[in-house]
Amino acid sequence: MSVVPLRPGVQAEPSAHAKPVAMIEIDRVSQMFETSGRRSHLALSDISLSIEDGAFVSILGPSGCGKSTLLYIVGGFVMPTAGVAKVKGRAITGPGPDRGPVFQEFALFPWKNVLGNVMYGLRQQGVKRAEAEAQSRRLIEMVGLKGYESFYPKELSGGMKQRVAIARTLAYHPEVLLMDEPFGALDAHTRTRLQNDLLNIWERDRKTVLFVTHSVDEAVFLSDKVVVMTRSPGRIKEIVDIDLPRPRRRADLLLDPHYQKYVVDIEKLIDDVLEDELHP
Ligand SMILES: Nc1ncnc2c1ncn2[C@@H]1O[C@H](COP(=O)(O)OP(=O)(O)OP(=O)(O)O)[C@@H](O)[C@H]1O
Ligand SMILES: [Mg+2]
Repeated sequence: MSVVPLRPGVQAEPSAHAKPVAMIEIDRVSQMFETSGRRSHLALSDISLSIEDGAFVSILGPSGCGKSTLLYIVGGFVMPTAGVAKVKGRAITGPGPDRGPVFQEFALFPWKNVLGNVMYGLRQQGVKRAEAEAQSRRLIEMVGLKGYESFYPKELSGGMKQRVAIARTLAYHPEVLLMDEPFGALDAHTRTRLQNDLLNIWERDRKTVLFVTHSVDEAVFLSDKVVVMTRSPGRIKEIVDIDLPRPRRRADLLLDPHYQKYVVDIEKLIDDVLEDELHP
């Protein structure tokens, strides 16, 4: 996979007196849903989480604990019923180009080929066709799909589609990537490959990533912080800082006792969550 700079230039340093603003601030957020039986269901309860610019944060927790809901809130697709979610200090009131979702439900356009899918967002933003095409071709190459530009989604494997979805989202230059189990449906080999690709992109570009997964191993490998949630209504059980050196290589990590300890400790936390579920 070739490496192409996505955001050239240097960002201005905040002044010495400026209070650093977190990229994402989730402040006492709760989410109540009205279900079809007219019953209220508390999906998230009192979630507070601060994510620094450039951090890679994963969320783990049992099915139904509200992980996707939390990502939808940060994406601006769902308004929290209590509390506030902010991006760069501003309350989130809807989706925006600063936050790029890679959700499995956000399927590719079946009537557009790979190039068309990746170009779409840039064209919507008013980027001229030639420039949009040049940028899109670079992104397609970056995610390892050079040569597949004219293929349609139905002609691609699951892993290839997922890579197109990542390229399409990167094309917007979002500062925050919101990834909801992006590799969940993939075979182990493709999953490992895409994990490495994502880390390469992230290490070069340092976007802020909020990543939902069911895999402890994947969360530890990728993240600076792992947020473990309780079962429904989802609360934060614990936030684990993953203090492992970068760049990370999977082969090295698997032999690293520190890595192994993180995996075992987080698996224990999840066992506790499931145990609480059985014996509340
Ligand atoms: N639009 C909605 N209307 C009603 N209830 C909802 C809605 N969206 C989610 N829920 C409920 O909120 C809870 C959390 O759902 P969510 O999809 O966020 O869980 P999750 O942690 O992502 O689960 P999984 O790991 O299975 O993807 C569930 O009990 C679900 O039934
Ligand atoms: Mg989910």
